[in-house]
Amino acid sequence: MQLVVLLSVLATARAIVVPQVDSSGHFHSPVPADAVPQGKNITINGVLTYVSLPKGNFDPTTAVVLLTDVFGLPSPDNLILADQWAAAGFATYAPDYLNGDALPTDGNVTTWAVNHGEAQTTPPLLAVISALKSHGVKKLAATGYCFGGLYTTRLVQNNTITVGTMAHPSSLNVPTDFELVKAQSHVAIEINNAELDTGFTPALALETDTVLGDGQYLPGYFRRQFDGVGHGFAVRANVSDPVQVAAKQGAFDTSLAFIKAHLN
Ligand SMILES: *[C@@H]1O[C@H](CO)[C@@H](O)[C@H](O)[C@H]1NC(C)=O
Ligand SMILES: *[C@@H]1O[C@H](CO)[C@@H](O)[C@H](O)[C@H]1NC(C)=O
Ligand SMILES: *[C@@H]1O[C@H](CO)[C@@H](O)[C@H](O)[C@H]1NC(C)=O
Ligand SMILES: *[C@@H]1O[C@H](CO)[C@@H](O)[C@H](O)[C@H]1NC(C)=O
Repeated sequence: MQLVVLLSVLATARAIVVPQVDSSGHFHSPVPADAVPQGKNITINGVLTYVSLPKGNFDPTTAVVLLTDVFGLPSPDNLILADQWAAAGFATYAPDYLNGDALPTDGNVTTWAVNHGEAQTTPPLLAVISALKSHGVKKLAATGYCFGGLYTTRLVQNNTITVGTMAHPSSLNVPTDFELVKAQSHVAIEINNAELDTGFTPALALETDTVLGDGQYLPGYFRRQFDGVGHGFAVRANVSDPVQVAAKQGAFDTSLAFIKAHLN
């Protein structure tokens, strides 16, 4: 009995909530001047949602929900990223789960986070997902970036989606949240992480592997680390820096391949 108590105290002690990384920890880059978002803002079930559809025919029974970072829909990088998913063939929906209150690029993420907990963020997210399902979407992928990594993890834990990917996740609890995935989910999960991330560090990534890796998680798990880049690398890259450009594209390609392999 005492041993069990001791073990659970130890387990609590080593559980780490991945911190939000403030603006100075993000790579900010001007969006290329020629990049114009191709999608539209539509209100779905009361929630502003950026919708980007493939050109030409696509399968309306599948969709990607893109869970943005803290900079939300006002950041063109997030809209261009949604367009990239659409260009890969998926109807793509980025709900404004920040409730019209995205973090300004010079904002204080600690102060901002007070009004962006799960209680505020989950309802708009689930409102859009439920509307998609009631309009015939049967297979749903979620791809989350930074802040969106927590919500991808929740959707995986809750078996709300078909497959989930994330890049440089924040706010989740390592290893507890992945132990919960292993205990209750049947949804495959993929993670792109950055060598220089001060939030989801390489050490936390390795700890995640000890829970889900080596075939322990039968629905499917893959993690890829990108060297020489930091937090935010899958959303924005300095176009003059080939390492950043390649890492951003590599993260997209890795998530896309994983989603294609598991969206059936
Ligand atoms: C969609 O809404 C966001 C947030 O209000 C805005 O910044 C963006 O420019 C809009 N995009 C389009 C294509 O209307
Ligand atoms: C952000 O605000 C918190 C208090 O809400 C403060 O402790 C912290 O120093 C601020 N960070 C920056 C970078 O200003
Ligand atoms: C997932 O389920 C938990 C437990 O019921 C709930 O608290 C949470 O809001 C759900 N989150 C999402 C994103 O569905
Ligand atoms: C982008 O990368 C180039 C080449 O490394 C560098 O000179 C420039 O300062 C970087 N720009 C930003 C905004 O970091």
